[in-house]
Amino acid sequence: MATPAPSKKVILSGIQPTNRLTLGNYLGAIKNWVKLQKDFHCHYMAVDLHAYTVRQDPEALRNNTYTAIAIYIASGIDLEHCTLFVQSHIPQHAQLAWLLNCNGYMGELSRMTQYKDKSSKAGANIPVGLFTYPLLMAADILLYDTHLVPVGDDQKQHVELTRDLAQRMNGLYGDDTFVVPEPYIPPVAARVMDLLSPTNKMSKSAVNENGSIFLTDSPTDIEKKFKRAETDSGKEIRHDRQNKPGVSNLIDIQAAITGESIAAIEARYDGKMYGHLKVETAEIVKQELGPIQKHAQELLADKTELDRILKQGAEKARAKAEVTLRRVHERIGFIMS
Ligand code: TRP
Repeated sequence: MATPAPSKKVILSGIQPTNRLTLGNYLGAIKNWVKLQKDFHCHYMAVDLHAYTVRQDPEALRNNTYTAIAIYIASGIDLEHCTLFVQSHIPQHAQLAWLLNCNGYMGELSRMTQYKDKSSKAGANIPVGLFTYPLLMAADILLYDTHLVPVGDDQKQHVELTRDLAQRMNGLYGDDTFVVPEPYIPPVAARVMDLLSPTNKMSKSAVNENGSIFLTDSPTDIEKKFKRAETDSGKEIRHDRQNKPGVSNLIDIQAAITGESIAAIEARYDGKMYGHLKVETAEIVKQELGPIQKHAQELLADKTELDRILKQGAEKARAKAEVTLRRVHERIGFIMS
């Protein structure tokens, strides 16, 4: 196993294998993960323990987790250079989360916007896990001595909390107990919006599925969904998130895939109609996703091989996680076994 060059910073990120991954997950996270793997020592996960904060159908959870892993690999995550794994395969995540449970405060967790949002929708019985979820995420990050955490805006607050916890425990147990991580906002962050209500982020669990492009959608579905995409009043194809959120979203999707500048895309559509933009965006998305879908299908057809890949990833991850957890146990005063 190659030891990473010490100068390389450590990156860690994860996506919940709930429902099916969307074009938003791909352009906002996975495609970017692939770019980072050359310059950083990367850890990428399917965070199934996090998914369990919401009741999951066992068969669906299993399938979604395999599919997420297959999509990561098919998108270009390189198993030689990255550590790719499933969160529940590494028991140290839950173990460190407990220790963080004893160091996090009710007050700071109550202030997490995601908790406020999700608990308000959870009805009378709010699972405790929904409340302590950020501590599990902090454990994910701290176990691997992570320097940078690529996340969207909605997760920045959790990374801030992780920093606070790391600093608090470093104060108690020594400065080198935990590496204090930072959120990593990529230079060109693609924020893909819902096709039908383009002021909302594209989601895995949107009420209307026609607003989301799932990575498993067929070419015909992709065409249909883009054809129905909400555009704005007026005719001009111009990037203006405030007044033309629908059109801007399609331009952003094109830019994220092709790497073309917004200005160049606008120029290309000068004098053209919304219909052109929709059809061509669908085409670009189909071209991008086609080979990934094909490769993912091949991987999913051979679960024995996928299991082997996951076993290897888990071994790599566990080796690191064990060292960190032992260090923390020792400093806390637990007898070492
Ligand atoms: N909480 C993140 C989300 O819902 C997923 C996540 C779990 C994560 N652990 C992480 C992201 C560690 C980055 C690093 O999107």
